[in-house]
Amino acid sequence: MKILLTRKLHDFAIKELKRKYDVEIHTGSIPMPKKLLISKIKDKDGLICYPYDTIDSDVINAGINLKAISTYSVGYDHIDVKTASRRGIVIGYTPEVLTRATADLTMALMLSLFRRIPEGDKLIRNNKWRTTFGPYEFLGTDLYKKTLGIFGMGRIGKAVAKRASGFEMDVIYHNRTRLSKKEERELGVKYVSSDNMFRTSDVISIHTPHTTQTHEVVNLKLLKKMKKTAFLINTSRGKIINEKDLAMALERKMIAGAGLDVFQKEPIDSKNPITKMDNVILMPHSGSATVETRKKMAEIAIKNLVLGLSGRKPIYQVKT
Ligand code: DGY
Repeated sequence: MKILLTRKLHDFAIKELKRKYDVEIHTGSIPMPKKLLISKIKDKDGLICYPYDTIDSDVINAGINLKAISTYSVGYDHIDVKTASRRGIVIGYTPEVLTRATADLTMALMLSLFRRIPEGDKLIRNNKWRTTFGPYEFLGTDLYKKTLGIFGMGRIGKAVAKRASGFEMDVIYHNRTRLSKKEERELGVKYVSSDNMFRTSDVISIHTPHTTQTHEVVNLKLLKKMKKTAFLINTSRGKIINEKDLAMALERKMIAGAGLDVFQKEPIDSKNPITKMDNVILMPHSGSATVETRKKMAEIAIKNLVLGLSGRKPIYQVKT
């Protein structure tokens, strides 16, 4: 069988794939240009792709032999799942293994915002540190007893709730479906309406997948409800936030700041006003970017593909 990788994966994964298949790896510009992808997918049985690849109906339908798609990500909003399912193509993805790393990065952004870590680092490097240790010197905010609002209580949302309870924060959440009373008790979280969550939280963290329902769901209307002292964190998908509205809210100090790992366009445009703001901490889509996690994702991604191509169920299969 023939497979296509839109980018190189770990050496161990390539080796294993080459033992089983005729492997073609795209080594040019990233993402792989659509025209090229369409021409290369024509004779392939399997595809390994990334969150920035657009696997739409043109691509899927060009793959006349395509049987399995394996994405190196938990998110699969870049794949036209309906078209794939109509064609009987299975889709594998990589949840669970990246839950902890993404929750850790969320907490890192939260701590960085509350304790002004990038600002302090910049102050010293720019030789602007003049006085030390005063009652009003470089003050941040405690996490202790602050209210964290989690928007989307799936695997990653729950992992963030667990970490936040270690910091003795009060955790509220909003989700499409409410957790069981038992799970709420175990996690120490309280269900509230999204309106209530945006109004009362000191920090809001987005953990919902990007779907037609969540597209730009965080807009000016919701941002206006937030406290002026509150922060917004997004380690999920950029398209969940209306970025123009967020830029306006940050510029007008309607909220205190934001910690962003994901953006509408990635890599972000250097002209995007968000990149110029002091009250924002930016990361280059790195929620799952740890040595351990990215290796585990590769293991799962290749297993998913192998299983899908042999007509078996991938370890993690996107429901169609
Ligand atoms: C994913 O896997 O979808 C993440 O966004 C990668 O960090």
